[in-house]
Amino acid sequence: MTSESHVEVASDPDVTSSVQAVVLVGGKGTRLRPLTLSAPKPMLPTAGVPFLTHLLSRIQAAGITDVVLGTSFQAHVFSEYYGDGSKLGVRLQYVTETEPLGTGGGIRNVLDDLTADNILVFNGDVLGGTDVREILTTHRNSGADVTMHLVPVSDPRAFGCVPTDETGRVTDFLEKTQDPPTDQINAGTYVFRRSVIEEIPPGRPVSVEREVFPKLLSEGRHIQAHVDHAYWRDMGTPEDFVRGSADLVRGIAPSPALGDRRGESMVHDGAGVAPGAVLIGGTVVGRGAEIGPRARLDGAVVFDGAVIEAGAVVERSIVGFGARIGPRALIRDTVIGDGADVGARCELLRGARVWPGVQIPDGGLRFSTDV
Ligand code: GDD
Ligand code: MG
Repeated sequence: MTSESHVEVASDPDVTSSVQAVVLVGGKGTRLRPLTLSAPKPMLPTAGVPFLTHLLSRIQAAGITDVVLGTSFQAHVFSEYYGDGSKLGVRLQYVTETEPLGTGGGIRNVLDDLTADNILVFNGDVLGGTDVREILTTHRNSGADVTMHLVPVSDPRAFGCVPTDETGRVTDFLEKTQDPPTDQINAGTYVFRRSVIEEIPPGRPVSVEREVFPKLLSEGRHIQAHVDHAYWRDMGTPEDFVRGSADLVRGIAPSPALGDRRGESMVHDGAGVAPGAVLIGGTVVGRGAEIGPRARLDGAVVFDGAVIEAGAVVERSIVGFGARIGPRALIRDTVIGDGADVGARCELLRGARVWPGVQIPDGGLRFSTDV
């Protein structure tokens, strides 16, 4: 192939032909407990829809309609909600691991449903603004075995750190290293040649990050980087979930699943907001939730049916389904489990997590001695 023919491929509008998508959604979502005790992480509501809807809409908007969900934990929740995928304009198939097979094992486990030559694989918890066709174009142009989307972040230690050479070829893969040699990290979207997936050992847990990528690199195989600076966030921790949700509400994070109803807050059908309540910072109020007079919600994620009583303050926190925050309580950087009841004037700060159904009496938990 001449370099000219490479250029022609780059402008090929049909870059999505013979491409299928796989979305890995089988993780336990432990860092988002207790919310993930009752729902898998990709099904938690964000800006009014399950998180996965944003990702599936992005895949569909790129012209890819054939999507396989690699499920494990709480697999039935996905199929009950999405069915055959037709409402989102995609054809969805489900493959369930009886025992969690890890990220690499999860990809290998769906092989029987893969007929395309090139497979786009997504971690199911990434909120992103990248046009996936650009990643596919990089893959076509480089002829790599695997193409990996990378983004720069300020602290790479929680991610896969991925150094590259001057041609953008990946030279190493260091999952969650304390000593990252670069700020480029694995953004959790890959294009695999189908033949590479066939090489992953079947029937046992395999980490794509700790086993498959290091092995390919040690064999001198070609992993190409696609680096960009589009919006990107892994939604796996409460801090990131709250930030990502607020970014969706405010229109900072793109999503084809949302219309132009973006602003400082989003209030869903059947929710009540009393006069004098303040909703800012990308706050989202779920269906049937009630916000009392003079409550102040800043960057709050209030799930369906939750109640925030008069004068309560909720900042950068998630309030689970049907939970109640009592009058004048203060909730900051906290996760409140489904159906929990936080009494009047309680203060919950800095990473507190209240388990589902737990009841804290009025004034029963405070960080200060103020009345
Ligand atoms: N099917 C299946 N089976 N899916 C799984 C399994 C499994 O056993 N384990 C995890 N997953 C899914 C999760 O549901 C999630 O969507 C995705 O794989 C990644 O798992 P996380 O647990 O969220 O991994 P991480 O955030 O710590 O790290 C990964 O993502 C980072 C970027 O967001 C790694 O790929 C890092 O290298 C990467 O930087
Ligand atoms: Mg993650």
